[in-house]
Amino acid sequence: MACSENMFFLIVLFISGVLVSFGQRNLIATMPDRLDVLTGSCVQIPCSFDIPDQHKDTFNSTILTSGVWIKGNQYFGERPDRVIFNSSETVNRYQGTITGNMSQKNCTTVFFNVTTSYSDKYYFRIESKPFRGTDTEKSVNIVVRDFPSSPIITVSGEVKEGTPVSLNCSAVAPCPEHPPELTWTLPTQFTTENQLQENPDQTKSVLSTVTFTPSYLHHEKNITCTSVYPVGTSNKRAEHNMMLNVSFSPKDTLASISPADPVLVGSCVNLTCSSTANPPVTNFTWFQISGDKPTQVASGQSYTLNVTVDGGLYFCEASNSHGCGKSKEVQLAIKGSGEHVNPTVFGVAAGTLGAFLLISLISLFVWRRNSRLHDGLERTDSPQGQNSPVGTVCTNQATAGEEPEEPAEDQPEEIQYGDIDFSKLQTKEIPAAAQDRVQGQESEYAEVNVTGRGATS
Ligand SMILES: *[C@@H]1O[C@H](CO)[C@@H](O)[C@H](O)[C@H]1NC(C)=O
Ligand SMILES: *[C@@H]1O[C@H](CO)[C@@H](O)[C@H](O)[C@H]1NC(C)=O
Ligand SMILES: *[C@@H]1O[C@H](CO)[C@@H](O)[C@H](O)[C@H]1NC(C)=O
Ligand SMILES: *[C@@H]1O[C@H](CO)[C@@H](O)[C@H](O)[C@H]1NC(C)=O
Ligand SMILES: *[C@@H]1O[C@H](CO)[C@@H](O)[C@H](O)[C@H]1NC(C)=O
Ligand SMILES: *[C@@H]1O[C@H](CO)[C@@H](O)[C@H](O)[C@H]1NC(C)=O
Ligand SMILES: *[C@@H]1O[C@H](CO)[C@@H](O)[C@H](O)[C@H]1NC(C)=O
Ligand SMILES: *[C@@H]1O[C@H](CO)[C@@H](O)[C@H](O)[C@H]1NC(C)=O
Ligand SMILES: *[C@@H]1O[C@H](CO)[C@@H](O)[C@H](O)[C@H]1NC(C)=O
Ligand SMILES: *[C@@H]1O[C@H](CO)[C@@H](O)[C@H](O)[C@H]1NC(C)=O
Ligand SMILES: *[C@@H]1O[C@H](CO)[C@@H](O)[C@H](O)[C@H]1NC(C)=O
Repeated sequence: MACSENMFFLIVLFISGVLVSFGQRNLIATMPDRLDVLTGSCVQIPCSFDIPDQHKDTFNSTILTSGVWIKGNQYFGERPDRVIFNSSETVNRYQGTITGNMSQKNCTTVFFNVTTSYSDKYYFRIESKPFRGTDTEKSVNIVVRDFPSSPIITVSGEVKEGTPVSLNCSAVAPCPEHPPELTWTLPTQFTTENQLQENPDQTKSVLSTVTFTPSYLHHEKNITCTSVYPVGTSNKRAEHNMMLNVSFSPKDTLASISPADPVLVGSCVNLTCSSTANPPVTNFTWFQISGDKPTQVASGQSYTLNVTVDGGLYFCEASNSHGCGKSKEVQLAIKGSGEHVNPTVFGVAAGTLGAFLLISLISLFVWRRNSRLHDGLERTDSPQGQNSPVGTVCTNQATAGEEPEEPAEDQPEEIQYGDIDFSKLQTKEIPAAAQDRVQGQESEYAEVNVTGRGATS
């Protein structure tokens, strides 16, 4: 019983094994799964073939071998019209030629003048003296379109601002005899290099590599790669738009006082720091210049303080993972106790008192100015960092984050005086403390991240 059952299964296994071996491929063709082709253009099908071991002895590569392409279905016995190309025939349904050397098992084929009716799958067959066979398991799917597919832009990893970055744009070249031409549109100067390259599936692409030096000014600017395919006498274009995402250290850092007018001692004042940065600012730090040294007084974008007698000079620093930026100094101006120091209004009513106050304020101001200028001279002679033990975040690192090309940073800084009278006289006051920075010694770090989507036209 058991023995005959085993025999039965063995027989079944034997028969199925024979069936499997009969179902094996007579021919092994290697070609891409899919090719995207333009109407009116040509298509090159990269193709190679091999003979399975059990047929090796019947195949003689020195004997002239025909290459045959069959459309839609591998069985052409009752449908000879499925044979659209036979290299042994002089006239074929498809204009084409086998450019590969069949003796070297290279069946690479080019079809010309492609039309939308060519969209289909195709099987390859060889016919030589004793041996003939079709690869019934492998076909290439040809997809014909009127418009080319978009080129593809790729960016590699993290890129630093100020450091050259390379982007690739690649466009398929299904007809390598007439490859597309790639052009770039960028918001800055660039250099490009184009080459025809072979993909892993043996299809061809045109690769254009563009190199440029990004700056924070290129953040959220578009770049475009355009491919132009020559088709007959006209051209067909496609493009890929992409918005640059440039990471950069804080720029345009600005400290502002609210309210802007001179305030009374004891009242509340808000200092607010603004800055543009990518990624956004993670840390705002406030400094007061006391003596000639910046002293850290607060952190946070806004700093609310209780006004004391001396007011003072303030600046802020903004930082992110790529560095930091420093604002100009702002003057917190103090209103005299209850009086308006405005001669056009006040002078008539209380001339004597006003003149006295004016003189004393001028004296105070001149004294302060002299002391600051004096400080400034000292500071410019002093090595960096010694004078600012607390404000080290930006004085050493962050100045490196300032762009030398940034125009605002190169201009003399103005103290923003709230007091009407003296602001007119002294707007060109230059605090030396704001100028003692070392420019451009280290490049800042920025990355270019890109998001994008293709578009055809
Ligand atoms: C292949 O064909 C050539 C020419 O007919 C012949 O001389 C040669 O012996 C054949 N080779 C094999 C392995 O059959
Ligand atoms: C290919 O052409 C040759 C020569 O005309 C012919 O003998 C052969 O049958 C053709 N093959 C197919 C599949 O039509
Ligand atoms: C096959 O022939 C084509 C020319 O039609 C050539 O470009 C390709 O490199 C050849 N492939 C191999 C594997 O030799
Ligand atoms: C094809 O390959 C064979 C064998 O390598 C070589 O003898 C022949 O010259 C080649 N034909 C062409 C057209 O390159
Ligand atoms: C493509 O077809 C047009 C007409 O349909 C013909 O004039 C032209 O010569 C053909 N080109 C090729 C390469 O066969
Ligand atoms: C661009 O292409 C070249 C060559 O294929 C490759 O070495 C490089 O890594 C690519 N760069 C990017 C950004 O994709
Ligand atoms: C930038 O590209 C986007 C699509 O990615 C597009 O919507 C936008 O209009 C483009 N902007 C400019 C200025 O070209
Ligand atoms: C200061 O800021 C706080 C909170 O941001 C706000 O409530 C307050 O009104 C502001 N004061 C002035 C004088 O702007
Ligand atoms: C741009 O890059 C920054 C920093 O890498 C990242 O935080 C942000 O999500 C990116 N933005 C987009 C739109 O990809
Ligand atoms: C913010 O800056 C201050 C002063 O430099 C520092 O002590 C603190 O660790 C920073 N915080 C973050 C979250 O970076
Ligand atoms: C400012 O200082 C005065 C006097 O010291 C005090 O009464 C008041 O509460 C302070 N205001 C704030 C907002 O700290």
